[in-house]
Amino acid sequence: MREKLDKLRDELRSRIGVATELEELEKTRVQFLGKKGILTMLMRNIQELPVTEKPLMGKLLNELKQFAAGEIEEKKSQLLEKLRLQKQEAERIDVTLPGMRFNYGSRHPITLVLEEIEEIFTCMGFQIGEGPDVELDHYNFTALNMPPEHPARDMQDSFYTDKEMLLRTHTSPVQIRTMEKMAPALPVRIIAPGKVYRRDDDITHSPMFHQVEGLAVDRGISLADLKGTLLLFVREMFGRGREIRLRPSFFPFTEPSAEVDISCIICNGRGCRTCGNSGWLEILGAGLVHPYVLEVCGYDPEAVSGFAFGMGVERIAMLKYGIDDIRLFYINDLRMLRT
Ligand code: DAH
Repeated sequence: MREKLDKLRDELRSRIGVATELEELEKTRVQFLGKKGILTMLMRNIQELPVTEKPLMGKLLNELKQFAAGEIEEKKSQLLEKLRLQKQEAERIDVTLPGMRFNYGSRHPITLVLEEIEEIFTCMGFQIGEGPDVELDHYNFTALNMPPEHPARDMQDSFYTDKEMLLRTHTSPVQIRTMEKMAPALPVRIIAPGKVYRRDDDITHSPMFHQVEGLAVDRGISLADLKGTLLLFVREMFGRGREIRLRPSFFPFTEPSAEVDISCIICNGRGCRTCGNSGWLEILGAGLVHPYVLEVCGYDPEAVSGFAFGMGVERIAMLKYGIDDIRLFYINDLRMLRT
């Protein structure tokens, strides 16, 4: 009997020793210590031994059982620890690896410039006016003192959708729509940012581009108001030291009309390549609202007057950010959009 127990002990030891899986270990446990396990059975059989052997055998069997339970328990915790380490290793992350780069979106330079222009003028008390991109010939031309035979309506320059509709060629029709709606209320003070369309395509012209129109109508508005407003705008937009000058020009819907230049933002007026050595950069067209336009819209040109201006947003963005090809705004090159 004693030998048998020693053998069992050896077998148990080697079985536990080679076990690499928890299930394997559990099987061994059931085999030895389970309800029908070897040691359990032997314990039962003790009854049949001679009385003299019973106590000793009982003791030895009990020792073996305790030994088995202890060994199995220890092996079990070893295997569990091993599993835990394996899992930890599999889930390990190297916090010293370089991080992943996320691409953040950024706002388009045209949007930034539009927002800045809107901010400056709304601070001066202007509201935002709107009109449709697909416009009636009447608003785009006729009401702006460009009657049917006017050369600006040329099919070569405009995208017509039918005889009387076209993609607006400028934001000036918003002047008409606004005054029509408001007349005879005073004052009118709006800017109208938006897209405009022309049959043009080269490094400084795009078939779609953006303009901001400005309009102020009230009693006693003069060129001085126009100049003061634009000077304030230019200094907010391009810096305190900027000067402006008004050069006589012609637009059918303003009288008198002017082209407005700013002192060159590159050379500060000394003369450089950007300003063609003149020291000045043209940035917008402007003038006093033509009496015909006021009248068409329901205002009495004898009693009220107004100023208007229109600027190209791309041109301003090109000057501000030093971009020399207008097409860069539309090709969505991330290298440019990111800067
Ligand atoms: N609409 C003109 C254009 O697209 C720009 C312009 C000139 C607008 C003078 C005005 C203005 O309001 O007064 O070329």
